[in-house]
Amino acid sequence: MKKSTVVIGAQWGDEGKGKIVDLLARQADAVARFQGGANAGHTVKANGREFVLHLLPSGIVHPKKPCFIGNGVVLDPPSLMEEIAQVRSQGIKVDGRLKISPLANLTMPYHKMLDKAREAQGAGAIGTTGRGIGPSYIDKVGRLGIRVGDLLQFDVFAQKLRENLKEKNFLLKNYYKVSPASYEAIIKEYRKYPALLKPYMADVSLLLNQLMASGKKVLFEGAQGTFLDIDFGTYPFVTSSSTISGGACTGLGIGPGSVGSVLLVAKAYTTRVGNGPFPAEFDPKMADFIRRRAGDEFGRTTGRPRRCGWFDAVMVKRAVQVNGADQLAVTKLDVLDGMKQIKIAVSYGIKGGGYPWTTEELSCCRVKYITLPGWDKPTGGIRSYGQLPANAKKYLQTIEKLTGVKISIVSVGPDREATIFRA
Ligand code: IMP
Repeated sequence: MKKSTVVIGAQWGDEGKGKIVDLLARQADAVARFQGGANAGHTVKANGREFVLHLLPSGIVHPKKPCFIGNGVVLDPPSLMEEIAQVRSQGIKVDGRLKISPLANLTMPYHKMLDKAREAQGAGAIGTTGRGIGPSYIDKVGRLGIRVGDLLQFDVFAQKLRENLKEKNFLLKNYYKVSPASYEAIIKEYRKYPALLKPYMADVSLLLNQLMASGKKVLFEGAQGTFLDIDFGTYPFVTSSSTISGGACTGLGIGPGSVGSVLLVAKAYTTRVGNGPFPAEFDPKMADFIRRRAGDEFGRTTGRPRRCGWFDAVMVKRAVQVNGADQLAVTKLDVLDGMKQIKIAVSYGIKGGGYPWTTEELSCCRVKYITLPGWDKPTGGIRSYGQLPANAKKYLQTIEKLTGVKISIVSVGPDREATIFRA
């Protein structure tokens, strides 16, 4: 990693960003999360141990590496404390190197209740993770949110909580017909968080700018993926934050010039958890086949089976554009080993060729594919690009040609070692 780099998912999340961030973190001076919340599920396998992270930056598994959680994140204190306890029990020291922006909004218990109540209505369900993400960002943008820094003046926190509960409990009781949130119970639980969170609070924007001004390189870690972005994703079947590279600037308080490189991470095929259009989706039989072959195509946060499909060059090319990507990492290539033929979606059959403007248009587009020959030789043990089977190289070269960006990393298994770096 020669410059400060932002790592972004090219599809609908779960592209294997955790592993890529973990690898690049070795060469970075710090790692920063800039959006999302406990909805994320990043898996890092290191030295025979597996870490599943939701709020903590993946860099946390590297001893001594400073890690930042920016203002763009929505922070759920009980989830964070649980996660800190979990990584501590796995031998990771967190104190002194985790910094959290006091400007980050809190995900509160009533956000999770509202998220679940909305989803339970059935019609129009997004298929969320139920972690209260949408309602947290609604309050942030609606200027009703309670921020991490508010915990330091507990009377301010309590006052904001009281005001919020008037509206939220009205909705919960009268509209969703579920039990309301208890002011007393939340106050009782949250009394411990000022002392627990204060040691981590810091001016994240200032610290990151100082680090970069002194020549240090920062790895900006995106969560979810481009097509879950609140603006450019398959709206409304998206998450509620800016998951694209621009989100790193607003979510951390850094200028666009700080981002030296944009690395997109795409699976060698496509997956999606939750509802919404999926143009290159497999039929159920093929999806089941790939899920079993990959072994782990189940959501890390919710355990739901992931929907699966062919690599979609139309969407990844769009992701290259909206993120300004200059490199691509392709993960899980080994999952395609032994397939006779492999398809790539190359067109949505839209008149005029542009990218669909509405989700309805995307839902009924007519996908055109090209078919490439597969390869027999297992790729899991291969560590150099030159040794990949000729048809695997052809597949990767076709992806480069169709998306217009160079593949710099190929991942052929979950472990750190199962990676091919291209100069
Ligand atoms: P929310 O972010 O929980 O509101 O969920 C909105 C949509 O984003 C749903 O389709 C979720 O399945 C999806 N989603 C949220 N976080 C992740 C993730 O980390 N990986 C994959 N999908 C996610």
